[in-house]
Amino acid sequence: TRTPVNVTVTGAAGQIGYALLFRIASGHLLGPDVPVNLRLLEITPALKAAEGTAMELDDCAFPLLRGIEITDDANVAFDGANVALLVGARPRTKGMERGDLLSANGGIFKPQGKAINDNAADDIKVLVVGNPANTNALIAQASAPDVPAERFTAMTRLDHNRAISQLAKKTGAAVSDIKRLTIWGNHSATQYPDIFHAEIAGKNAAEVVADEQWLADAFIPTVAKRGAAIIEARGASSAASAANAAIDHVHTWVNGTAEGDWTSMGIPSDGSYGVPEGLISSFPVTVKDGKYSIVQDLDINEFSRKRIDASVKELTEERDAVRELGLI
Ligand code: NAI
Repeated sequence: TRTPVNVTVTGAAGQIGYALLFRIASGHLLGPDVPVNLRLLEITPALKAAEGTAMELDDCAFPLLRGIEITDDANVAFDGANVALLVGARPRTKGMERGDLLSANGGIFKPQGKAINDNAADDIKVLVVGNPANTNALIAQASAPDVPAERFTAMTRLDHNRAISQLAKKTGAAVSDIKRLTIWGNHSATQYPDIFHAEIAGKNAAEVVADEQWLADAFIPTVAKRGAAIIEARGASSAASAANAAIDHVHTWVNGTAEGDWTSMGIPSDGSYGVPEGLISSFPVTVKDGKYSIVQDLDINEFSRKRIDASVKELTEERDAVRELGLI
């Protein structure tokens, strides 16, 4: 029998946590034959709620769930962690400036990065979901000098999935026929969903759509502002779809991309496509044997170039701001 994989989830008592934990425990994160130990990290006032969720996890009698530990101590939560899903973050509240938001999140992701550095397993893989995800990932990474930098990733898979779904609706294609879609840049309103290299049932997606105005005025803003539209409709932010995307991100990172397809992940740039080295930016990636690589040599047209550059500029500004705050 396989040794259980230790999966740490922060913000476990929150909305995304509630939609995420049951799917991890039922085998959707890693695979149907991989047992897991769950480690739930919460702030002290939310421990009781996390215990309630753990009671429900028990009550599912998941065959793959070998243990649940609940703690408010990051050193305990990340002890021996193989996978870490950093979901808990400080949301932007009314009147909060960007600097306030970044420093509040620095107060969370800096100590968590250090706890990962000091306690996690050698094969640790980190996914940051909590916003601003790319920059929070950069902060955690900077506090974990002993962990290879490429193990820190940020989630743009929800944007990727949203874009596939919108494209399927527009063209009448099945979701499963759409391949090679890319989200570039920051997980924010500046992100750029790129269909110029995407395929719909083997045909170039941009040629199938043949409507640049729809791209610019409908598709891109719909994908970029989907989070706000969900809040407006549901009265609460996207949780189940965010949890689903976190599952997809880690599942792909561990189990690989399908032949002929790729996915989108926020990862440390190696300088590809003019994205400054070290920025955690979304790229088209393929994954094999648990390692991702940026898809190289794609032609970037002018339409795409200016949008990628705008998102990367925002990431650079966020990095400069956390540098000034001494967080990295
Ligand atoms: P939530 O507010 O329901 O839950 C957050 C939880 O984190 C709370 O239970 C809170 O107690 C906990 N928490 C706060 N500080 C913590 C700390 N230092 N250590 C451990 N836990 C801590 O929020 P929700 O809806 O679950 O969303 C979580 C985050 O995910 C937000 O930042 C949200 O913006 C982000 N998000 C990111 C998406 C993406 O595509 N990257 C998509 C949707 C949401």
